[in-house]
Amino acid sequence: MKVGFVQYNPVFGDVDENFFKIEKMLKDISTDVLVIPELFATGYLFENKAQLLSLSEPAGGGKTYEFLKNLSKKMDALIIGGFPEKDGEDIFNSAIAVKPDGTFHIYRKLHLFNREKIFFKPGNTELNPFEFRGVKFGMLICFDWIFPESYRTLAMRGAQVILQPTNLVLPYCQKASFARAIENRVFIVIANRIGEEKMENISLRFTGESIIYSPEGEILARASENEEEVAVVEINPEKALDKWITERNHIFDDRRPEFYER
Ligand code: ACM
Repeated sequence: MKVGFVQYNPVFGDVDENFFKIEKMLKDISTDVLVIPELFATGYLFENKAQLLSLSEPAGGGKTYEFLKNLSKKMDALIIGGFPEKDGEDIFNSAIAVKPDGTFHIYRKLHLFNREKIFFKPGNTELNPFEFRGVKFGMLICFDWIFPESYRTLAMRGAQVILQPTNLVLPYCQKASFARAIENRVFIVIANRIGEEKMENISLRFTGESIIYSPEGEILARASENEEEVAVVEINPEKALDKWITERNHIFDDRRPEFYER
């Protein structure tokens, strides 16, 4: 199975231009699974809730979904990307995984980062894996990385590959995910963005270095800090089914939850 990521620099608020850029980057790419960054079509640094609302769309009912559905069909691949999801009065920072037949799964970011707390509602979807081509996938979004329970829960529920759209501004996740991969024996695909966004006295620089880890913590692909890039690698997802780390140590069965803080 082939899995990959797109790392790019979206234009804030110009959804159509961002679709165009991504389509161009993917012209000659073939893969089974592709991860695109968090809030990939809108940009990140929203001025106020009204601006964010104008760029939000219901799950499965807007132009971002239409774009991803067409891309998924054309590439015959599972496509994952982040978007602001409108649900009544609420806006969630969500990821959608779209299959070539147009069906989809939604994950709403559980752990909001910094200013996201002003505009977005904390996610309320379960950490439940879903299946595609016989493999179990889980989704996380960006700052979920600092909560190891997120990966652990997905892995204990059967996820073999964790797909993670990001807009990383801190420089830790790309390295920390090494531990998340080996302690759960899962593949992790992190699609980050590059570039800068500025607003009044706030300036954010996104850290690139999108990365793919194997269950042994090998780096299968790593992008640069500041270039637009696509990477695709071949993986054997069955590797993630083996949770034995020595002949006497099973990473889940050896846990001692009765001694852990809940
Ligand atoms: C982040 O969660 N976008 C840093």
